[in-house]
Amino acid sequence: MHYRALGRTGWKVSDVSFGAWAIGGEWGASDDEESKAALHRAIDCGVNFVDTADVYGGGRSERLVGQVKRERKEEIVVATKAGKRLSPYTAEGHTARNLARFVEDSLRNLGVDCLDLLQLHCPPPKVYYMPEVFGALDDLARAGKIRYYGVSVKTAEEGLKAIEFPNLQTVQIIFNCFRHRPAELFFQEAKRQRVGILARVPLASGMLSGKLTRESKFEPQDHRNFNRHGEVFDVGETFSGVDYDVALDAVEEIRRLVPAGASLAQFALRWILMFDAVSCAIPGGRRPAQVAENCAASDIPALTAETMAAVASIYAAKIRPLVHQRW
Ligand SMILES: NC(=O)c1ccc[n+]([C@@H]2O[C@H](COP(=O)([O-])OP(=O)(O)OC[C@H]3O[C@@H](n4cnc5c(N)ncnc54)[C@H](OP(=O)(O)O)[C@@H]3O)[C@@H](O)[C@H]2O)c1
Repeated sequence: MHYRALGRTGWKVSDVSFGAWAIGGEWGASDDEESKAALHRAIDCGVNFVDTADVYGGGRSERLVGQVKRERKEEIVVATKAGKRLSPYTAEGHTARNLARFVEDSLRNLGVDCLDLLQLHCPPPKVYYMPEVFGALDDLARAGKIRYYGVSVKTAEEGLKAIEFPNLQTVQIIFNCFRHRPAELFFQEAKRQRVGILARVPLASGMLSGKLTRESKFEPQDHRNFNRHGEVFDVGETFSGVDYDVALDAVEEIRRLVPAGASLAQFALRWILMFDAVSCAIPGGRRPAQVAENCAASDIPALTAETMAAVASIYAAKIRPLVHQRW
């Protein structure tokens, strides 16, 4: 496992880290013992950074992460998120009082006195024009309730706007073989301001593992079933917003580029790590074997310039017209 600086925080995080959405909910049934085993395996493999959120399974993901953290002696940095519990989900709901309330719940779920990193959870775009929201986060940091804060964003533009707030430490954004636009202006600016970048949905919801087919079935409570067309939340979060059949065709082309000894999932993660603005990729995992496979991506050799160019041309031909200007 290799480690990279997380912006200006002083933390060095595993470049392949752990995304804890699937161990909470919205990915069909999950088994808590298996989820904990997956988290333990990640730490055994050198993972020292976990991304979760208060809404993942109504606190279930945070509680599991907190339990495993207490069972280990290694220092594990936990990033969580707040905001999505607001109903209605408005910019105006992001008040100091509501944020403080969400933070107290996350502290309880995780069993800690101070959150390592609190991210606003894809807030409505108006929030980026409300400095008082970021002021409230500064107050929470001053009060010792959170160590640092960041945002999870939907678009590269939101990322550019977010990094104008001087105390913001991280931006979480979708970045993978099917989502190239963040690597344009946004990465350049984030790097210049030493803001950490968490690459989420790195496997395009499992599509970039190469295991899915036209016959694959997903449980009714799995967003890959119920949000295929953005029925419940932003379609960009499900298969990275790429039409299922188009994605399958592109995966077959990418598969030909995978070097001997690596899996397609490892290739997809290594592609992300080729961008030095990225602090870490946070693949979701709920089975120990998957997690071990993903962690090993940190150690595979750098991809060649020819391979990077080949991914870029597959993206340009098949994916770009569907996603590039949207996110
Ligand atoms: N708005 C936000 O802030 C937001 C939104 C989305 C995600 N996130 C964060 O980003 C993390 C990662 O994104 P994600 O979980 O949506 O997508 P992802 O990492 O692209 O895909 C994860 C899924 O792919 C499958 N998978 C993982 N490793 C595999 C392997 N080696 N081989 C085969 N299949 C594998 C697993 O599902 P199956 O085994 O069930 O197929 C897993 O749940 C989340 O856990 C969460 O922490 C944040």
